[in-house]
Amino acid sequence: MRITMIGSGYVGLVSGACFADFGHDVICVDKDEGKIAALKAGRMPIYEPGLDTLVASNVAAGRLTFTTDLTASVAGADAIFIAVGTPSRRGDGHADLSYVFAATEEIAAAVTGPTVVVTKSTVPVGTGDKVEAILREKRPEVDVQVVSNPEFLREGAAIGDFKRPDRIVIGTDDEGAKRVMRGVYRPLYLNESPILFVGRRTSELIKYAANAFLATKITFINEIADLCEAVGANVQDVSRGIGLDNRIGKKFLHAGPGYGGSCFPKDTLALLKTAEDFESPVHIVEAVVKVNDSRKRAMGRKVLHALGEGDPRGKTVALLGLTFKPNTDDMRDAPSIAIAQALLDAGVVVRAYDPEGMEPAQRMMPDLTYCHDAYEAAIGADAVVIVTEWDAFRALDLGKLKGAMAAPVLVDLRNVYRRDEVEGAGFAYTAVGR
Ligand SMILES: NC(=O)c1ccc[n+]([C@@H]2O[C@H](COP(=O)([O-])OP(=O)(O)OC[C@H]3O[C@@H](n4cnc5c(N)ncnc54)[C@H](O)[C@@H]3O)[C@@H](O)[C@H]2O)c1
Repeated sequence: MRITMIGSGYVGLVSGACFADFGHDVICVDKDEGKIAALKAGRMPIYEPGLDTLVASNVAAGRLTFTTDLTASVAGADAIFIAVGTPSRRGDGHADLSYVFAATEEIAAAVTGPTVVVTKSTVPVGTGDKVEAILREKRPEVDVQVVSNPEFLREGAAIGDFKRPDRIVIGTDDEGAKRVMRGVYRPLYLNESPILFVGRRTSELIKYAANAFLATKITFINEIADLCEAVGANVQDVSRGIGLDNRIGKKFLHAGPGYGGSCFPKDTLALLKTAEDFESPVHIVEAVVKVNDSRKRAMGRKVLHALGEGDPRGKTVALLGLTFKPNTDDMRDAPSIAIAQALLDAGVVVRAYDPEGMEPAQRMMPDLTYCHDAYEAAIGADAVVIVTEWDAFRALDLGKLKGAMAAPVLVDLRNVYRRDEVEGAGFAYTAVGR
């Protein structure tokens, strides 16, 4: 089949490369000329494990191409995916749909024959109706069906998630569109990945409900972690104790500095706005957003507390890991941003290292001192803080780390280490919920 992917960011590029790997002919479009030039030259605009080889092999096979020319890319496509960004709108937290509607206008101007337009971007309930209205108004003569197909991949594990999804959700009532979507996902269908056909509005809501539920699970265990600290319990044991219950499940029960990233913060806010618009509040998600926002700053205070008595001004803290999670270079809404800001506000000198996120971090946080590895970051530090649990920080040489530091204090916001091991190496150790 011929597939056009509009937007070649985390989702568009991974989806496009995977569809090509399934054997489809895929054109990835982006209006960012630098991004397309890099892709044409074989350079990945993002860090995602395995993506470079997947792209290279499909380009070599002639199934995957890149362009800035949306008009030409749309002609003759069986399915046109919209995978552009839907960030929070400045000021009110609604999803900013301007990129989605701009892409729709461009598709409307360019579309030639019968085709299916698929929103893969995460969009609020009713967006598909608006996309359809634009297409019908501009091109009433062309047979175009609008389908919702939200994406559930995780950055850092995106290719595996795309190729072996827990489920594929497709929102349409149109039989022709269902046939096209079955063709698009046929290889996964054969792998027995369940395909859920639902109404378009339902499909749009499933994505928000899924992210809000996962954000709730994280926030729940974070509050339980605080309670563990207050009563002298161990949150890791609580997580195991409840997670082994199949009704609860083990995943997303790791206490930490609060959720961040490109999806949960904006999607929870957008869900609240939808709920407000329809006068059907989701109080649980309201609480989740509030608790998570205050938690990130609270983690900054936790680090200041670990520095001990006295004025923190002029002290030095090393942050290990800046991206919102490991195996990505994505810094969007990362907890490290609020933590670093709280430390800077207190007059602390912040040194930092991240295996893949240094470039975007430097753009967002120019006031930090950036280092080449964990040990360089630790030089002269009064505390080292593990903010993101990259593998590189899981087996640090604690003796070497301590040797570089001004004072041996380790704040482990991801509960990577065992207390006896760290204290045995002569550190004062602060973890989360233990
Ligand atoms: N990142 C994730 O892990 C993830 C997971 C699931 C769903 N999503 C959703 O997928 C969507 C895309 O997210 P992302 O992280 O890939 O965003 P991104 O910012 O990485 O990529 C979006 C790309 O779209 C391009 N673009 C915007 N308007 C365009 C236009 N008119 N024509 C061509 N290109 C255009 C931008 O230049 C950019 O490269 C969002 O709605 C997001 O919520 C993201």
